[in-house]
Amino acid sequence: MQRVKFVDLVAQNAEIREDVDRGFERIHAETAYVGGAAVKQFEQEFAAFLGVRHVIGVSSGTDALRLALLALGVGTGDEVITSPMTFIGTVEAIVQTGAQPVFVDVEPQTCNLSVAAVRHYLEAGRFRTKRGPKAIMPVHLYGMPVAMAPMRALADQFGLQIVEDACQAHGARVLLDQQWVRAGSIGKAGCFSFYPGKNLGAWGEAGAVATNDDQLAERVSLLRDHGRISHYAHQSYGYNARLDALQAAVLSAKLKRLDRWNRRRRELADRYRELLGTTPLPLWLPSEPEDVESVYHLFVVRSPRRDALRSALLANEIECGIHYPVPLHLQPACRTLGYRVGDFPESERIADTVLSLPMHPHLKENELERIASVTIRALAENHELFAGERDEHKTACLPPTRGE
Ligand SMILES: Cc1ncc(COP(=O)(O)O)c(C=O)c1O
Repeated sequence: MQRVKFVDLVAQNAEIREDVDRGFERIHAETAYVGGAAVKQFEQEFAAFLGVRHVIGVSSGTDALRLALLALGVGTGDEVITSPMTFIGTVEAIVQTGAQPVFVDVEPQTCNLSVAAVRHYLEAGRFRTKRGPKAIMPVHLYGMPVAMAPMRALADQFGLQIVEDACQAHGARVLLDQQWVRAGSIGKAGCFSFYPGKNLGAWGEAGAVATNDDQLAERVSLLRDHGRISHYAHQSYGYNARLDALQAAVLSAKLKRLDRWNRRRRELADRYRELLGTTPLPLWLPSEPEDVESVYHLFVVRSPRRDALRSALLANEIECGIHYPVPLHLQPACRTLGYRVGDFPESERIADTVLSLPMHPHLKENELERIASVTIRALAENHELFAGERDEHKTACLPPTRGE
């Protein structure tokens, strides 16, 4: 039985090979390995793609988030509001500035930070630091953008900066003021990870900050390169957080194909919904709110029988993942923040029920059909076994998106 891959970077590499070879040849000839023409070129191309004035290439998504916050003056005594349903890098970036991360629960439909819950926290005024919140860091989880129009209105009302964590949402779009704009181009800064498995991934670690603010761009540029204003002059302390040229060449080659690859991911998501959407089984499929366009970095289903489904897929040589099995407020690393089980019930229910099915632009129709048939069979077997629990689970664990 041929293994169905969760992500297929080999197929991606075959597509970009010639472009990358040419890019690498130039870099080797110039021996400009850190910064230089290839980095500049990618920064300009990605800025044009996003529709922003500046992109600053950095060494990872975590560094992008940290440098954007530092450049905004976020530090000790400030709070940054974010979601507990994300990768730990989001919260590490906040902690590394000296600020206090504040979790607010997510909405069950999109698994994204709930605007209503953020409003509730801000209006209640019981802040965790004396100074209170300075920024909101919405995470466009799984490639599905946050509802940015109400989020931005709320941030404006309370005088807060928005730093978008767009590390999973390269090319995703949001309808804002009747125009489609890219995730990561809306807040004061948008931060991207180019970790290899992302929709736009490097061949190693890489990231970027996007912004329309000239001063912010200048500060991030200084921070990523030892505060350097000329070769031997350092205006301030900074970091070594630069993007290297070989990664930039890979990213330029992939960026040309990103819209096409994202379109294919969206087709595959539709196909998953066709194949799985009509089953009476306890399975919830992701759907898009009208004003956003997801790029399906991950295709995340939910089921109260998640663990049985996962075992069946793995037994049938189908790779799958859980993003994320433990919400951040319950991670040992975050214990000093003082949160407990039950603090964010939506996030906890999501963590208990989510399963990420294979999703990448080179996934084939026959592979998708195999995934769907194993899924239906596994849930049908468990359906019989757990028939008594079904209704309770349907209401307790799954959001009501399928007309239930
Ligand atoms: C939502 C989110 N935030 C932050 C990060 C951190 O990015 P990196 O791994 O490039 O530091 C990631 C990447 O995995 C992510 O998915």
